[in-house]
Amino acid sequence: MQTLIKNGRIITACDDYTADILIDDGKIKLIGENLDISTAYVVDAKDKYIFPGGIDVHTHLDMPFGGTASSDDFESGTIAAACGGTTTIVDFAIQFKGQSLYTALDTWHQKASSKACVDYSFHLIVTDLNKTSLTEMKKIIEHDGITSFKMFMAYPGVFYVDDASIYRAMSLASDTGALICMHAENGIVINEIIQDYLAKGHTSPKYHAITRPTLAEAEGVNRAIAIARMAQSPVYIVHLSCMEALRKVQEARDEGVMVFAETCPQYLFLDDEYYDKPGFEGAKYVLTPPLRPKCHQEKLWNGLNYGDLQVIATDHCPFCFKEQKELGLNDFTKIPNGGPGVENRLSLVFDGGVLTNHISLNQFVQLTSTNPAKIFGLFPQKGTIAVGSDADLIIFNPTKKFTISAKTHHMRVDYNCYEGKEVTGAVETVFSRGDEIVKSGSYQGAKGRGQFIKRKVMTKLSQSSASLI
Ligand code: URP
Ligand code: ZN
Ligand code: ZN
Repeated sequence: MQTLIKNGRIITACDDYTADILIDDGKIKLIGENLDISTAYVVDAKDKYIFPGGIDVHTHLDMPFGGTASSDDFESGTIAAACGGTTTIVDFAIQFKGQSLYTALDTWHQKASSKACVDYSFHLIVTDLNKTSLTEMKKIIEHDGITSFKMFMAYPGVFYVDDASIYRAMSLASDTGALICMHAENGIVINEIIQDYLAKGHTSPKYHAITRPTLAEAEGVNRAIAIARMAQSPVYIVHLSCMEALRKVQEARDEGVMVFAETCPQYLFLDDEYYDKPGFEGAKYVLTPPLRPKCHQEKLWNGLNYGDLQVIATDHCPFCFKEQKELGLNDFTKIPNGGPGVENRLSLVFDGGVLTNHISLNQFVQLTSTNPAKIFGLFPQKGTIAVGSDADLIIFNPTKKFTISAKTHHMRVDYNCYEGKEVTGAVETVFSRGDEIVKSGSYQGAKGRGQFIKRKVMTKLSQSSASLI
C-alpha cells in the first residue's frame, strides 16, 4: 500500500518547503503540492515538520564492558532510538584481543539480526592489528559493507592500540577509502594520573573527571590528526568534549586536513557539576570523555555552527545505576563508563540548539542525519528527503512540550541523564522504509524488522568538502 503524508513542512539539510510525500515500496516516490492519490493511506502533517530519519553513528548496544554489559540490547535500544526519531544506527562490533575481525563481525550480526527494529550498520573496533587483521580489514571494506573502524588511544590493556597500529590502519584507510574513528585521549598518561589519585584515597565518581583532563583529549586529537596526515588518510574524532580538542580540529581543518569530528548531547547540555550530586549519584555521569566545565559548551556550539564539528551522535552506552554503576561504589575506576541517550538526541538538540538559535533548522538536519549519512557512506539512501531515498521520515511537532524521564522513556536503564528537563519539540510519527513504526510516540513495528545496511566508502568529493553541505 502507498502512503501519502500531506501538508508537512519538509526540512532537509538545504530545503524548507511545504509539500506532500508519496511513499511506495519503502521509498520516496513523489514529492509535490496537492497530491491526490485516492488509494493511498493518508497521514496529515499540517503544522508539523518532516525531517529525514535521524542517524546515530555512535551507539553501544549489548556491549560487554567494565565487567558487565550495556543494558540495552538491539531490541530495546532500537525501539528507544525509533521513539526518539532515529531510524538508522551505526553500532560498534568489538574485536577482542586474539580474535579475528570476522569473528567480531559475526558476533554482532548475531546480536542484531533478529532483534533490531531500525536499520543498522557496524563500525569495527580493532584492538589487535596484526597481518591477518589488516588483510581482513581490506576484505571487509570491499565485501561486507563495513567501511569504518574505531581505534582507542585510551583504556590501556582493554581497547588501547599503539601509534604504529593506528598508522598501519590509517594507511590502509588511505588506500581503500575507509575511515578510522578515533577515541582520542592519552590513556597512558590518564592511567598514571588515576594511580596517583587512588593512592591518595580518592575513590568517588567525581575523580573520573578530574583524572581525565582536557589536555589528555587535546593531545590525543592532535596525535590522531598528525598520524592521519602522515598516512594521508582522513580521520573522524568521536565524542569530542572540550574546547582544547576542538581547537586542534579547527587548526587542522584550516590547513585543509581531512578531519571530521562529532560531539554528543551530554557535552552540550550537561557539565562537570553533575559529579557533585549527593551520594553516589555522580556515577550516572561517569562516561568518557567526562563532562567538562560549562564554559566548553558555547565553544562546541560554535564548532557545530561553523562546520568544524559535523555530527551530533549520542555514544549511547547505558548501564543501570543499581547493580551496574554500583560496581564502582568504592572505586570510580570500576564504574562502567557510559550513559544512555539514543532516545533523547533529537528533542534535546531541537530544544537546546534550534530554539535557542545556536543552529538553524537545516543545520539540525545536517548534524543529526545528513552529515552522518555522507561521512559514513549511507547517502543518499539515507539522510535526506528525495525521490528514490528510503522513506525514513519523522513527523515532528515543533511546539509540543514534554518532560524527559526514566518513568516514560523506552531505554532499558533505570535513570535518565536529563530527568525532569522540559523540552519543546517532540517526535510523533516515524516511518522506516515506509513502515509507520512509531505512532503517537509509541513503537508499532515488528521485532527484528531492522535491516543491516551495507555502507559505501566516503566519496573523494565528501572527503574534500570542508562543510559537507
Ligand atoms: O563512556 C563511554 N564513552 N563508553 C563507551 C565506550 C567509548 O569509549 O565510546
Ligand atoms: Zn570512545
Ligand atoms: Zn562510544
